[in-house]
Amino acid sequence: MSGKWTPESWRGKPIVQVPDYPDQEALKRVETTLKSYPPLVFAGEARRLKAALAKVAGGKAFLMQGGDCAESFSEFHPNNIRDTFRVLLQMAVVLTFGGAFPVVKVSRMAGQFAKPRSSNTEIVDGVELPSYRGDMINGPDFTPESRIPDPERMIRAYNQSASTMNLLRAFSQGGYADLHKVHQWTLGFVAGSPQGARYQDLANRLDETLAFMEACGITSETTPQIRETDFFTSHEALLLNYEQALTRVDSTTGDWYDCSAHMLWIGERTRQLDGAHLEFLRGVGNPLGLKVGPKATTDDLLRLIDTLNPANEPGRLTLITRMGADQIGQSLPPLIRAVEREGRKVVWCCDPMHANTISTASGYKTRVFDRILDEVKGFFAVHKAEGTHAGGVHFELTGQEVTECVGGAQAITEAKLADRYETMCDPRLNASQSLELAFQLAELLKSERQVEAAKLAAAG
Ligand code: PEP
Ligand code: CO
Repeated sequence: MSGKWTPESWRGKPIVQVPDYPDQEALKRVETTLKSYPPLVFAGEARRLKAALAKVAGGKAFLMQGGDCAESFSEFHPNNIRDTFRVLLQMAVVLTFGGAFPVVKVSRMAGQFAKPRSSNTEIVDGVELPSYRGDMINGPDFTPESRIPDPERMIRAYNQSASTMNLLRAFSQGGYADLHKVHQWTLGFVAGSPQGARYQDLANRLDETLAFMEACGITSETTPQIRETDFFTSHEALLLNYEQALTRVDSTTGDWYDCSAHMLWIGERTRQLDGAHLEFLRGVGNPLGLKVGPKATTDDLLRLIDTLNPANEPGRLTLITRMGADQIGQSLPPLIRAVEREGRKVVWCCDPMHANTISTASGYKTRVFDRILDEVKGFFAVHKAEGTHAGGVHFELTGQEVTECVGGAQAITEAKLADRYETMCDPRLNASQSLELAFQLAELLKSERQVEAAKLAAAG
């Protein structure tokens, strides 16, 4: 893909997964309004994330990305934002300790409102209506009115994103993210978990380390890194009308940035080489994600990489693989080999959610904790065998104790799914399941670190 890029050059390309707005005048009005609104992030922040991701690409850090499958207007509440922020931070601390690596924290928050769907319509009791496409586009209620795409929803999503972002900034810089506090919460989890004993050892060692650091004078008062954290936002750049309206020229560099989030990703269903989504994202300076499913060929992948990262800039592109627990062992190695052979600098990140979704007999979409863990383990095993860095993970999770994924130490059964099944779209890990995964991942990271240390020692 070449030719001159402008913020609207995507409009001349084939596009999929976007709504047909019945009122085009209203759509134009909304786009004009959004163009006049302040950016949600600054270009300099997106560049800082890119630099952090460049360290991940170089094998010196780890990426932790997670949050809702779809944010919603109805679930908008400071406690929900706080609890998701908290669990992401807890996971990051556990991973930092396990891997002895900096962990780059990126949320699926403050903009994750538009969803690609496998079917354009949904049938309930013989009635067929357009599918729900996320609160930024139409409503979840199963009525004809609710399913009409309404551009005004973009304004509401922007406003909700702005206040979410404001709270996230306050949480990450205002003392709530203090390492000691995060650790205390995690101790609470370990004490309350049915399998707590398994995690006690790591928690105790972290306890001792913090006490040691404190004795050396490294405290919240003396060291900003203890009380503050860098916390970034991301979402799928699906609704390009919204993304374009928030795309601005950075006054420092003269480059275009999509200021709706620090990082944007392209979904599995919208990554056509000649399509509108690729065209739009190739032109913005933000770090980008690209979802890669089991059907992607090495040729496809290399061409996508060329289009999105022609300068081969490390940190620019994160490949978020979502292969399925059974598939990853076959599908991932050829892609890694092709990327390595061509010398492409990418971050490899594992999304163990989207190819492990099943439906229960009672009609719930769910995911099995052990299958999620299996894909993560498969991801680490493949990277170990290829000698490449298992760079990150991407989860759908929430800080609430929902019952959407089965398994984990709480042993959520299919029968229990009905208790608290609250997701607007895909099933999320709950707070306990998320932390449990983090503890298991910490062990994988630790063994990767030991392999690296042995390599270094052997090299003298
Ligand atoms: C998602 O991340 O919510 C999603 C829809 O993923 P994918 O494009 O990988 O299916
Ligand atoms: Co999803």
